[in-house]
Amino acid sequence: MKAAMAAGVWMAVAGSGWAQSSAWYDRAVIYEIYPRSFQDSNGDGIGDLNGITARLDYLKQLGVDAIWVTPFYPSPNADFGYDVSDYVNVAPEYGTLADWDHLAAEARRRGIRVLVDFVLNHTSDRHPWFIESRSSRNNPKRDWYVWRDGSGPGEPPTHWTSIFGGTTWTFDAKTGQWYYHIFLPQQPDVNWANPGLRAAMYDVARFWLRHGASGFRLDATPYLFEDPSFPEDPHPPKPGGAAGLEPCNSGRPENHEVLRELRKVLDGFPGQPVLLGESTTATIGELRKVYGEHGDEIQLPMDFLFGNRTRLDARGFKKEVDDAELKLGGQTPVFFFSSHDHPRQWSVFGDGKNNDRIAKLTAALTLGQRGCALMYYGEEIGMATMGAGELSKVPLGPKRPRADPRDGERTPMQWDGGKNAGFSAGSPWLPVEKGHTTYNVEREKRDPDSIYSWYAGLLKLRHTNAAFRDGGYVPLDSGNPEVFAFGRDAGAKGRAVVVMNMSGSEQKVRITGFRGGWPGFAKVLMASLAAGAAGAAESGSFTIAAYGVWIGGE
Ligand code: GLC
Ligand code: CA
Repeated sequence: MKAAMAAGVWMAVAGSGWAQSSAWYDRAVIYEIYPRSFQDSNGDGIGDLNGITARLDYLKQLGVDAIWVTPFYPSPNADFGYDVSDYVNVAPEYGTLADWDHLAAEARRRGIRVLVDFVLNHTSDRHPWFIESRSSRNNPKRDWYVWRDGSGPGEPPTHWTSIFGGTTWTFDAKTGQWYYHIFLPQQPDVNWANPGLRAAMYDVARFWLRHGASGFRLDATPYLFEDPSFPEDPHPPKPGGAAGLEPCNSGRPENHEVLRELRKVLDGFPGQPVLLGESTTATIGELRKVYGEHGDEIQLPMDFLFGNRTRLDARGFKKEVDDAELKLGGQTPVFFFSSHDHPRQWSVFGDGKNNDRIAKLTAALTLGQRGCALMYYGEEIGMATMGAGELSKVPLGPKRPRADPRDGERTPMQWDGGKNAGFSAGSPWLPVEKGHTTYNVEREKRDPDSIYSWYAGLLKLRHTNAAFRDGGYVPLDSGNPEVFAFGRDAGAKGRAVVVMNMSGSEQKVRITGFRGGWPGFAKVLMASLAAGAAGAAESGSFTIAAYGVWIGGE
């Protein structure tokens, strides 16, 4: 494929010697699409696969390497698609399998890879596997799920709490046992210890790889196994709270075996298919393990230590990026902020006055890095999270069967300033966010200072500038706690520097850390309106404006 990199490009990784970077995903920008909200093609108010296909040229022009499409499987939508009732089909509201094939083929023609969201910890309670499993204790699929006796009459086996709050156990009156679910009761956990279940799940992976997928975003990977002795949770959350990562419910050693097996399935297919993991960990040491001891598990585990940060804090971000670069053994880090589970970064980091400048800064923070960066649809135009007050007025109905606290970051993509922002000719399942008259693709494409133009510029830099395409990370000291600066070094091919002032006032810096001293970055590759790094060419001591981003090159 055109997008495949020449094999065997070696590059320096600060502090960890050399790492081989030969795969497309080592430097990819992967764009997450929530299909329900991206583009409606048939006027029913629900985004669909044909809608995504219709927007591939937009994505190509923006410059993304791959898209990750969140679940479009048949689903009762207790958790909007993350409760799958058929892994090898497309929900009618999103289209057909033929529409998927068309999307995959059209994406491939443009050099864009497509990742499928693989929900492998649980199915829907309406999945035929679970219907069989709950039908009797002797059913051959009984053991495909996690069934246990209660600890006493009416008492669940343990008192664990689920991620969405409430107990992890639901009693099944017919068979007199409890089934386990780390998420909703409608999302029973499968039993990965069962060989039949495993084989069936690997077949699901093969199915989508044969249908043109370039890999998977793996849902909820820490939770595949539980402590088989089901002890009581040593750190139960407060009443009403949600589960954390506990040794009893997550991060079990058995996970690694499954991930290695799944990786082997992928490695049997051409084109370097990839696993992008929703691999939440509490420490960088744990994150390192997710890649596999021999780099034979998840190639791209998302760095939630970085992605869960919600405050602009130069020292904090320097720590996370240094950790990702220096403590993951040279593996490819994965940076992101927004997702269908995270409120949008324009709103999270914005101070109410300088949101657009700050949005450019957080863009440089992820897209300036070595490694893989994720984007969430609409991030590139500064979409905002819809407020809870506004959301509460949106009625429930067939298109929106259930309100979800995450709906605020799932509003329709803003293509233009017109009615429904160009998302749908019908009545959208969620209304468009009120900012759409200003924050939309059509307007921002015409404005060279828009958030869209900034993103497009950064993506272009990643593809065309040697330092940003191939360069290793250089940890720098900015001499100022409000400013995060780092370098990118591609040796003879060139160096670059990214300087970000995370405060609302002008700051002085004295940047050190380049081998041999300040290289003198006379070329301004990109600078946000506010940046103006006066004196940067001559020495590492200069001033940078409030929330400014200054990117210099040799
Ligand atoms: C993951 C998904 C989230 C979903 C959950 C249960 O965290 O990202 O949206 O609710 O898994 O499948
Ligand atoms: Ca539709």
